[in-house]
Amino acid sequence: MEPLIQIENLRFSYPNPEMPEQSTEVLKGISLTFGHGELVAVLGHNGSGKSTLAKTLNAILLPTSGTVTVAGIDTKDEEKLLEIRQHIGMVFQNPDNQIVATIVEEDVAFGLENLGVPTDEMRVRVDQALHAVGMYEYRTHAPHQLSGGQKQRVAIAGIIAMRPDCIVLDEPTAMLDPQGRKEVMRTVKLLNRDYGITIILITHEMDEAAQCDRVIVMDHGEVVTDDRPEAVFSQVQRMRSLGLDVPQATELCDLLRQAGYALPPDILHADQCIDAIAELFSQKGIVTNAGTGSD
Ligand SMILES: Nc1ncnc2c1ncn2[C@@H]1O[C@H](COP(=O)(O)OP(=O)(O)OP(=O)(O)O)[C@@H](O)[C@H]1O
Ligand SMILES: [Mg+2]
Repeated sequence: MEPLIQIENLRFSYPNPEMPEQSTEVLKGISLTFGHGELVAVLGHNGSGKSTLAKTLNAILLPTSGTVTVAGIDTKDEEKLLEIRQHIGMVFQNPDNQIVATIVEEDVAFGLENLGVPTDEMRVRVDQALHAVGMYEYRTHAPHQLSGGQKQRVAIAGIIAMRPDCIVLDEPTAMLDPQGRKEVMRTVKLLNRDYGITIILITHEMDEAAQCDRVIVMDHGEVVTDDRPEAVFSQVQRMRSLGLDVPQATELCDLLRQAGYALPPDILHADQCIDAIAELFSQKGIVTNAGTGSD
């Protein structure tokens, strides 16, 4: 099967209309492939080009040179713009900017109306999308009454209703409280696992990236790392030198390793960290009351 997205030697400069010769290159020769059903995080410090890259995926921005191909379509093909946007949906940081209607289900239907989807079909798709993000029971509510996480899930439902192959989410949890972040991450992973939708998640949250299957790191407009999260985050010093953190569990294990404790290098999640420390204790003959129910 051909890849869903193929990026070849993509370069992009924001035009500077006043001084064209001074336009600075923001993407500097990126080549990447995204397959169907992938769950990918994109990391990089501020200004490294993540949002610019995201916008080239559904032809909001076109390459200055190089190519971006979506489901076999070159994004420069203006006649196929609608088709490209049906393959790749985008979700942005601020849910308030993405919600346009005064009732949840009307908001989810908005994109479909623009596509001219018949009313019966629209009803089915809106209900399915609201079920998929766990917001069906709120379908007649006013979006402004919802929490940030719920609003973001409604925004995601509006995208899913268009039946895209891929959703690109640009820091979708940045404006949410911890509960909202969890809800959105749970939804995103479910859409990937149960619906096979390719997810490209731009985030500054290392714990979110650790939940993906692949992590891409950008630095100054280039892709500098593209690997499994275990491989990416085990290089703690390298991540630091790129201006990035590692997940909390990885950091704790790294500190303990530096202090001489033999812990595995590929720990990403709190439960793995707890298991590894408990294992270390049992090897050293230290008895803990973890899990015994005693004080
Ligand atoms: N519309 C624009 N016009 C000119 N330059 C821009 C524009 N948008 C972004 N830039 C510049 O392009 C570079 C990359 O920006 P981009 O928004 O893609 O980075 P980012 O990795 O998404 O950063 P952040 O983590 O802060 O969201 C930055 O130097 C930024 O100042
Ligand atoms: Mg950005």
